[in-house]
Amino acid sequence: MTKPSIHILNGPNLNLLGTRQPEIYGATTLADIEASCRAHAESLGFAIVFRQSNREGELVDWIQEAARESEGVILNAGAYTHTSLAIMDALLACPHDIVEVHLSNPQRRESYRHRSYVAAASRGSICGCGARGYLLALDALDGWRKDRAGRS
Ligand code: DQA
Repeated sequence: MTKPSIHILNGPNLNLLGTRQPEIYGATTLADIEASCRAHAESLGFAIVFRQSNREGELVDWIQEAARESEGVILNAGAYTHTSLAIMDALLACPHDIVEVHLSNPQRRESYRHRSYVAAASRGSICGCGARGYLLALDALDGWRKDRAGRS
């Protein structure tokens, strides 16, 4: 049987994790986050698609792909979180569970980071937990999957 799949998508500048403002985002690189997500997803029985792009349209394409091919989405849209109606619309068109993740807690930062178009289209949001937030998001998707299985 093929494993259920989760898209884990990362937006602009997250390729710079490890060297980008480590006082805010920590020393963990995106490759480290991918490795820990792969290990945790494996233990939960999920396959993952893990990607990063600096381009808004590419993120939209991948959310549409997730709608067709996966059963959940974890998204750290970076600064597009606070600006992108196109990403929100793609998420609203995706029928699966979506978890917004941020390494930092945008609510404790500049006011222009307080609005999240991603939160408006997500089932849950995990902010300020650093790289661990991605693992917590996988746990949330696993829990909802089990809830659905329990009901059927
Ligand atoms: C971020 C928070 C955003 O406000 C910022 O633009 C980022 C990273 C986070 O993970 O904390 O690029 O999404």
